[in-house]
Amino acid sequence: MRIRLGVLGAGRLGSAIAKTWHARARQSPLIWSRSGYCAHAQGRVAEGQWVTDWTKLLKAESIVIAIPGHALLKLAGDNEQARQFTGNVFSAAASLASSSLQQLFPRATILCVAPFLIHGVKSIPMLALRPASLPLSRWLQAKAELECFGDIDVVEDEQVFSQIALLGASWPVVVVSAVQAAASAGLQRLEDQSASQVGRRIFLRAIQSLLANGAGSQELAGEVATPGGITERGLKSLGDVTTLFEHVFQQMQARAEELRA
Ligand SMILES: NC(=O)c1ccc[n+]([C@@H]2O[C@H](COP(=O)([O-])OP(=O)(O)OC[C@H]3O[C@@H](n4cnc5c(N)ncnc54)[C@H](OP(=O)(O)O)[C@@H]3O)[C@@H](O)[C@H]2O)c1
Repeated sequence: MRIRLGVLGAGRLGSAIAKTWHARARQSPLIWSRSGYCAHAQGRVAEGQWVTDWTKLLKAESIVIAIPGHALLKLAGDNEQARQFTGNVFSAAASLASSSLQQLFPRATILCVAPFLIHGVKSIPMLALRPASLPLSRWLQAKAELECFGDIDVVEDEQVFSQIALLGASWPVVVVSAVQAAASAGLQRLEDQSASQVGRRIFLRAIQSLLANGAGSQELAGEVATPGGITERGLKSLGDVTTLFEHVFQQMQARAEELRA
C-alpha cells in the first residue's frame, strides 16, 4: 500500500502534524520518536502507525522532520538509507540550513518549512522555502503534498525565509504576552473578579476588531484619538516601543543563529 507520510518526532509539532494529516488526508502516517509510543502512560498519537526504527519512515513518499536539527544530524549523518531516499523531506527544524539537509538526503526533494500551530484550528498553515534549483514538476508535486496541511505561503530566499518564519509563530507569541501585560496594567486597580473578567474580555475584543480593521497605527490614531482626549494622552506617553520591539526581535534572531547547524 502507498504510504504518503512519515513523521520523525512526536513532540508538540510531530504529534500535531500526524493528527492533522490523519484528519485531512484520511490516512495514518508512519511515526517514530526516540522514546516511542509507550513513553506516555496512555500511549501517544494513536493516529499514527508507530515504527521502532526511524529508517522505516523512509518507506513513505514524504517525511516531515519534527525533531531538533542537531538530533537529526546525529541520527541521519552517514546513514545510507537516508542518502538513497528519493522522496520529499519537509524540514521544520528551524536550525537546519537546506545545505545541511542536502548532505543528509542528497537525492531527496528538500523543502524547509515553518509550520504555524494555531490552537483550535484544524489545519497547519506553513511558510515554505522554494529552492531555486528545484525543477518545476518536483516543486509542484512536493507543494501539493504540503497543501494537505493547509494554506502555504512561499518565499525563495533562505534569509527572508528565516526572518519571516519568526513573524508567523514565535513573534506573535511574544507580542501576545506583551498585549496580556497591557491588559493586566489596565486592570490593575479592579478588585472585583467579575469586573476584571469583563474588562479583560472587552479589551481583547477591541484589540481583535482593531486588528481585523487592518488600519495602520497612524490611521488608527487619526480615526480614534480625539485631539486633546484620553487616547491621545496615552499615545503620547507610550514612549519608544519600536526600539523595544526591535531589540526583542533581534534577540530572537540571534538565538536562531546560535542554533543553526
Ligand atoms: N512547536 C512548534 O510550533 C514548532 C514550529 C516550527 C518548528 N518547530 C521545530 O520542530 C522541532 C520539534 O519541536 P517541538 O516543539 O515538537 O519540540 P518538542 O515538543 O520538545 O518535541 C521534540 C521532539 O524531538 C525529539 N528529540 C529531542 N531530542 C532528540 C534527540 N537527541 N534524538 C532524537 N529525538 C529527539 C523528542 O523525542 P521524544 O519524543 O523521545 O521526547 C520529540 O519527539 C524543533 O526543531 C522546532 O524548532 C516547532
